[in-house]
Amino acid sequence: MSSVVFLLAALATVRRAADALDNGLAQTPTMGWLHWERFMCNTDCDRDPDHCISERLYMQMADVMAKEGWKEAGYEYVCIDDCWPAHQRDAHGRLQADPNRFPGGIKKLADYVHSKGLKLGIYADVGKSTCAGYPGSLGYYETDAQTFADWEVDLLKFDGCFMDWTLLGEGYINMSRALNRTGRSILYSCEWPLYEWPFHQPNYTAVRETCNHWRSFSDVYDSWSSVKSILDWTASHQDVIVPWAGPGGWNDPDMLVIGNFGLSHDQQESQMALWAIMAAPLLMSNDLRDICPRSRALLQNRHIIDISQDPLGRQGYRTAKADGFEVWERPLSGGRLALAVLNKQEIGGPRGFVIQAAPGWKACSPQCNVTQLLPRYEELGVQTPQSNTLIPVNPSGTALLTVTPVSGDSPRGCWDSSSQPHNIL
Ligand code: GLA
Repeated sequence: MSSVVFLLAALATVRRAADALDNGLAQTPTMGWLHWERFMCNTDCDRDPDHCISERLYMQMADVMAKEGWKEAGYEYVCIDDCWPAHQRDAHGRLQADPNRFPGGIKKLADYVHSKGLKLGIYADVGKSTCAGYPGSLGYYETDAQTFADWEVDLLKFDGCFMDWTLLGEGYINMSRALNRTGRSILYSCEWPLYEWPFHQPNYTAVRETCNHWRSFSDVYDSWSSVKSILDWTASHQDVIVPWAGPGGWNDPDMLVIGNFGLSHDQQESQMALWAIMAAPLLMSNDLRDICPRSRALLQNRHIIDISQDPLGRQGYRTAKADGFEVWERPLSGGRLALAVLNKQEIGGPRGFVIQAAPGWKACSPQCNVTQLLPRYEELGVQTPQSNTLIPVNPSGTALLTVTPVSGDSPRGCWDSSSQPHNIL
């Protein structure tokens, strides 16, 4: 299997630059904040003014993003999800924001977010209505694209509820074209493959030509079982989806739920590490006004963000699975490699992993420099194929490392066909 994956990945690297949606956006995975997982469809602003879907929420989130290091860390888009519109279109057939919850309207909100040096994202649906029952864009693609451009919106998340699945492709492509025709740069986030998978394998060539990123799997929840299910789905479909990721278009495994209620700190580290390895959009869904310092430091960890945003733009994938460990690797620019070792055993204490057992260890021939980024930063120094460095990994935690070949070794060495699951400890 692995040789096929590597070959496909290599071919796709050559082909895909021309195949990406040609809007110049998402040259590296999108970073920002998106309301859905944390705030869902809370529209009760009378009883819950601080958490309901209202202009206040996005303005406050933009304030915090600009003030507390998020913008500097690279988080740029403040994104509205479902439940923002009024239930009726206006007299001209245009979507309008709920007047009670967005008294200033979306254009004013966009101005506010822009004044903070950030960008605004909005949400709509390719079908008759959104997943939560608000007006959908079917029959209104041109109107809605123009409305979003007039409001100076910077990103559109386009959902796929309430749509005949055989028309999904046409709908997503037509909206992509409508956005392009507005002349405004609007990043296009799709859920097209997610809604097609139940019927057939999506045409990722077309998806990549149409969208800047795309969801293929179920919604993330605030739980370790949800994060694990996303990793399992991604690994078991990596030969199909990984080759399509690259500058301009990315696989989207859904939001980061770091800083909420359901993940232990080790599990939060695992999500951050694996989302960086997967070259995933880093769209946090949490309450930045009230987040614990450890989660904030993790989300703002510049070493991990450097992996996420690596200019080579290759998505990583699982290269080994044995004895309750998973090894994931991502090729980085400069012949470097990011290596994540996830301890999936949810009993007992920390277990030692000998990094030499990782398939990517070939990058270490004749020698390499290894830096550990998680769970704590540590220079592990020069290693050779004979090194036996043991890394302790907590249950459901991840050790994240970078491996830099020391003398003229080709990065291709990491990706040859002999990578097989190893017996580990
Ligand atoms: C779907 C999407 C979610 C979110 C909700 C909103 O479930 O996959 O990400 O946008 O709809 O209703």
